[in-house]
Amino acid sequence: MGKLDGKVAFITGAGRGQGRSHAVRLASEGANIIAVDICEDIPTVNYEMASPEDLAQTVKEVEAVGGRIVAVKADVRDRDQLKAALDQGIAEFGKVDVVCANAGILPMKDTTLIAGFIDGMDVDFVGAHNTVAVVAPHLQSGASIIITGSTAGLMKNTTEAMGKTGGVAYAFAKRLIFQYVETLALQLAPHNIRLNAIHPTNVNTRLLHNDDLYASFRPDIVASGGKPTKEDAMLAFPHMQPMPIPYIEPGDVSALVLFLASDDSRYITGLNIRLDAGAMLKGEIAIS
Ligand SMILES: NC(=O)c1ccc[n+]([C@@H]2O[C@H](COP(=O)([O-])OP(=O)(O)OC[C@H]3O[C@@H](n4cnc5c(N)ncnc54)[C@H](O)[C@@H]3O)[C@@H](O)[C@H]2O)c1
Repeated sequence: MGKLDGKVAFITGAGRGQGRSHAVRLASEGANIIAVDICEDIPTVNYEMASPEDLAQTVKEVEAVGGRIVAVKADVRDRDQLKAALDQGIAEFGKVDVVCANAGILPMKDTTLIAGFIDGMDVDFVGAHNTVAVVAPHLQSGASIIITGSTAGLMKNTTEAMGKTGGVAYAFAKRLIFQYVETLALQLAPHNIRLNAIHPTNVNTRLLHNDDLYASFRPDIVASGGKPTKEDAMLAFPHMQPMPIPYIEPGDVSALVLFLASDDSRYITGLNIRLDAGAMLKGEIAIS
């Protein structure tokens, strides 16, 4: 018996990283999965998005744990695409009970004046809201929505201090998610539908392992004209958390996603949960 037997989970950004990990973990507990990913690059982001092959790998890994999955290419910025993907999944599985609004970007290239800010807001905040908007007509008593925020939005001087408008948008979008959850959870609660957010510290994925973030963790090297490497950043990452780790793993987030998705947490709603190895005990808090 799995904790999610008979449930259906809709997961955005499931082509790799945390989204793939959630898909596999929830499937291993019996959920059927509807997975979406953009599967193409975004010009304001300096690292590549998941590819169609990455999304196919998610399908393989879900099936390897005995799960069923419908995987569709869709952009969370486009509500019509997202709805079409969800409809495909509902045609197969009949309903949706669990929602993981997980897709996110750190867009550090201003191709035009504030292009990074616009893409950051569109994916990191509007994308989460679009996800909620397309599932809303299908949600029934017992449903659980989980949005992925970030400690970057809850602490001061994180991505917003990186000198690019997309970093400002990233922190602002994740901060808005905090208030979004508190506001909307109250409206959903009388329907026995739950809404919570997880705010992870750094997670071992492509969003963390890219040159922009390496540079933000090693301003000393940038100041002397150098280009920080992963090895340079690895020396600085542990300073973020008082617990002795450089970052958490996608599976650490999936464990909390599973708890929030399952009936074990049936009366937990409206929470913004820090999953941060104590990072926010050290940093200057921007919102609480
Ligand atoms: N990695 C970290 O350090 C970290 C820390 C805190 C929060 N987060 C958040 O965790 C979530 C998952 O990111 P990750 O760490 O797995 O990074 P990732 O880059 O590996 O995964 C993000 C996924 O989202 C997809 N995606 C991006 N834009 C999309 C769009 N418009 N439509 C559909 N799919 C889209 C990408 O293709 C990719 O597969 C994001 O919301 C991110 O902001 C990450």
